[in-house]
Amino acid sequence: MSKTIIISNRLPLQISIEDGKLEVTPSVGGLATGLKSFHKDGDSVWIGWPGLTEEEIPENLKEDVQKKAREENCVAVHLTSDEIDGFYYGFSNRTIWPLFHYFMEYTESDDEYWKSYQQVNQKYADEILKHYEEGDVIWVHDYQLLLVPNMIREQRPEAVIGFFNHIPFPSYEVFRTLPWRDEVLKGVLGADLIGFHTYDYERHFLSSVSRILRHQVDFNEITLPDRIVKVDSFPMGIDYKKFEQAALDHFESTAADQSELQKRLDHHLEATPDAKMILSIDRLDYTKGIAHRIRAYEYFLDKNPQHIEKVRLVMLAVPSRSNVPQYRRLKREIDELVGRINGKFSTVSWTPIWYFYRSMPFNNLIDLYTTCDIALLTPIRDGMNLVAKEYIATRTNHTGVLILSEMAGAAHEMNEALIINPNNFEQVSEALKTAFEMPKEEQIERNKMLQKRLRRYSVDKWANDFMKSLRATRENRDSFKSI
Ligand code: ADP
Ligand code: G6P
Repeated sequence: MSKTIIISNRLPLQISIEDGKLEVTPSVGGLATGLKSFHKDGDSVWIGWPGLTEEEIPENLKEDVQKKAREENCVAVHLTSDEIDGFYYGFSNRTIWPLFHYFMEYTESDDEYWKSYQQVNQKYADEILKHYEEGDVIWVHDYQLLLVPNMIREQRPEAVIGFFNHIPFPSYEVFRTLPWRDEVLKGVLGADLIGFHTYDYERHFLSSVSRILRHQVDFNEITLPDRIVKVDSFPMGIDYKKFEQAALDHFESTAADQSELQKRLDHHLEATPDAKMILSIDRLDYTKGIAHRIRAYEYFLDKNPQHIEKVRLVMLAVPSRSNVPQYRRLKREIDELVGRINGKFSTVSWTPIWYFYRSMPFNNLIDLYTTCDIALLTPIRDGMNLVAKEYIATRTNHTGVLILSEMAGAAHEMNEALIINPNNFEQVSEALKTAFEMPKEEQIERNKMLQKRLRRYSVDKWANDFMKSLRATRENRDSFKSI
């Protein structure tokens, strides 16, 4: 029977070693959390990296890693520490990630990183070929594996290959600065269908293909000498029912089941019943606008001293890519900002920011989503931002206000949120005021509309739409041959 082979750099399971034993935790990040439910329900095998370097896994545990992966229909690809340095921390996260998010000043061009990127992409392609059988569908994910589609195509010209980019695709003027732009585009064009979260990213990609490689582009189809490649936008959704159900269960749980975090949140609510809680959740990444958010919050408190002691920003930042210097610098900057603002405004009974720098289990995420009155998400650039969607899905009584940056892919589908430009502190501050004053009826009306849309465009629909469109490309290919 044919299957789907999913391939992404990171597996949905993260393996670590505690006291000589393997620990498995879920991976953080939109790709892993989103795609997990499609993988769970379907007939697929998922190939990727389990999060430890080859050197970090003792010989006697290597087979156990594979076993843990197999239990979840996954295949672990082992990467050496050199490969992680060159491919992951290097080309993926010091070249492509900053460039595609318009951080050109952070973008490094290093031949060694590029070589490693090519080698590791080949390693992934080889792993796919080991599992591939005729009739299978191959679905490659994200910016770490841009060369994989063509590497497979060269070996298996008949294969049906899809590629989905989970981050923005930048405008031609930015993309053209990449020294390896031709190779990257040719790599992706090995796919039959290329998907993006938004129409803008799709247009940017098509424009780069036509101007750099000079291929003929008609609407959303690219004509290659032997094939047609289709490009389309598929905004990724969430597992709506999972978040909704988790929130319902949360409200039904007894006091004894409550987490320590929930107890602390409730304690705060009881002490200051008319106070508001603002939530933000992100990986600690410079694209997420965390420092902008804190500064905008400071601006808000300066301008609106009547809110002192009446508001709290609960900020959860998950450690990410800490071997890249910009991430380390950002961590220091945020520590300093939080310290300065807490020092500036705190009173004996109140601190304006609660800052958590760690990953949290799912039930704590639900505690935060369901308890906070406002979600403030201010990315400077973000392919999608699933946190915005998850927050809305957990608001089962339909109250709550989402303030969302217009730079997030999710903003295109979430017009009923308060949409802001994260660089404009005055606007963010005004949005906070509007959120505080928004009547319950208006919150309910806005959220009901958002929920209706999110429920319909769930992650299953996203994956099924992509798969349907990908399978259709096979038929088009047959008709192309017969012309
Ligand atoms: P990105 O993919 O850039 O990290 P998204 O907002 O699209 O951003 O996705 C982040 C995902 O990671 C969400 O599904 C969210 O639930 C999950 N997540 C974020 N923070 C945590 C955390 N502390 N613990 C567990 N999962 C988290
Ligand atoms: C984003 C990317 C994913 C990546 C995730 C976490 O969501 O689109 O490809 O897996 O961030 O980043 P990491 O570098 O930890 O895998």
